[in-house]
Amino acid sequence: MTLAESWDRYAVGSKPRRTTNARGETTWLNWTQYPDHGPNERVLGPVAGRSVLELGSGVGSNLAHLVTLGATGVGVDVAPAREEKARQEWGHVAGLQFRTAEATAFLAATSETFDVVLSIFGAVWFVDPEKLLPLVRARMATGGILAFSHLPPGSQAPRPGKAGMRHDHTPDEWVHILGSHGFGDVNATVLAPPQGAEVATMLVRAVAS
Ligand SMILES: C[S@@+](CC[C@H](N)C(=O)[O-])C[C@H]1O[C@@H](n2cnc3c(N)ncnc32)[C@H](O)[C@@H]1O
Repeated sequence: MTLAESWDRYAVGSKPRRTTNARGETTWLNWTQYPDHGPNERVLGPVAGRSVLELGSGVGSNLAHLVTLGATGVGVDVAPAREEKARQEWGHVAGLQFRTAEATAFLAATSETFDVVLSIFGAVWFVDPEKLLPLVRARMATGGILAFSHLPPGSQAPRPGKAGMRHDHTPDEWVHILGSHGFGDVNATVLAPPQGAEVATMLVRAVAS
């Protein structure tokens, strides 16, 4: 099975996101697997007028939120089913595009540059950072923000992706890895789960230097 087929298969079992969050908002950004939990888009700094790339954008709801705040957005996902669903959901939003592509292939081929790159349980988790980060850095403006989330290492939660596919690292490891690929001011935090849940979330933010 190809990577695209395997992620298309995963997409079939994914639960749709609620139409509104606890605050009654119809778009929002959520870094964790839990509803109404954790920081929001402020992690990225102001996004209005900025070009944003999401790697492994799924149905595009997080990216769509950033575009409603004034960003332009490109969502890249290897699974064709995701682009189809994302277009159904968010095709009406101006300044938002979705592309079916593997993240490294997209980055190697594009001539676009981005102010902000994010990945929420997305491609940054599933691609070897030694391959991915040089390609990401090459397409980012200096001073741009890279931010991503994933399950912390050793987490026993049910997990997407084939065994061995995840590239989850500790905060110290991320500081080192990102530092060796042209990123500084790395802030890597483990967010505690909400009450009653067990699995935390790793949230990493770095500046392209
Ligand atoms: C766990 S889902 C998360 C989706 C979305 N970010 C969210 O928060 O709902 C992981 C997504 O990353 C995509 N993905 C995994 N590896 C990828 C790669 N190498 N290139 C592009 N997309 C990838 C999958 O197709 C899937 O949609």
